[in-house]
Amino acid sequence: MSHLTIVIVSIIFLSPLAVSVTFAAESETPTAYSLLQSYNFPVGILPKGVVAYDLDTATGKFHAYFNNSCSFSLVGSYQLNYKSTISGYISENKLKKLTGVKVKVLFLWLNIVEVIRNGDEMEFSVGITSANFAIQEFLESPQCGCGFECKDSKLESFARRNTPFVSSS
Ligand SMILES: *[C@@H]1O[C@H](CO)[C@@H](O)[C@H](O)[C@H]1NC(C)=O
Repeated sequence: MSHLTIVIVSIIFLSPLAVSVTFAAESETPTAYSLLQSYNFPVGILPKGVVAYDLDTATGKFHAYFNNSCSFSLVGSYQLNYKSTISGYISENKLKKLTGVKVKVLFLWLNIVEVIRNGDEMEFSVGITSANFAIQEFLESPQCGCGFECKDSKLESFARRNTPFVSSS
C-alpha cells in the first residue's frame, strides 16, 4: 500500500472514533434540560432554545439564557413570556425567587415567582395566588411561538382547565 492509501484508510476508520470522542466530551456538561430533571422537574417548564446557563451548585442560584424573549400559550389558556435571561434558585422540587417569567391572567402580566413540584402536580405561584397543573402537561419543552400546540401536539387530548389562577382562593 502506498502512503497515501494508508492515510486515506486511517482517516476513514479513525474519523468515526474522533466524532464519538467529541460527543462524549460534550455530554459531560449536562444541558439545562437534563439539569432540571436532576432536580426532579419536567423539562416542559423550560421552553426550547436555552443557549447557555450557569448554576452555583452550593446555593442553587442559576441563570438561563435565550437568544430572544419567548412567548407562547400554556395548555390552551394562559400566555407565558420568558425574558432572554431568567434567574432564580433551584433545589429539589422547588424553584424560588424566579425572575423573567410572566403569565398573563385576564389583562395583567404577573411574575411567576415560584414553581413547586408536588407529586404529579406542578404548582405555579404568582405571589397572591397559585395554580396547579398536571405534570403530564410538561413532559416536552414548549417552543417559542406555538408553545405546546406546535403541529399535531400529543398534548392536545389533555383536558383543558379554564382559569385555575382566577378560581383558586
Ligand atoms: C442563537 O444565536 C446564535 C448566534 O446568532 C446562533 O448561532 C444560534 O443558532 C442561536 N440559537 C438558537 C437556539 O436560536
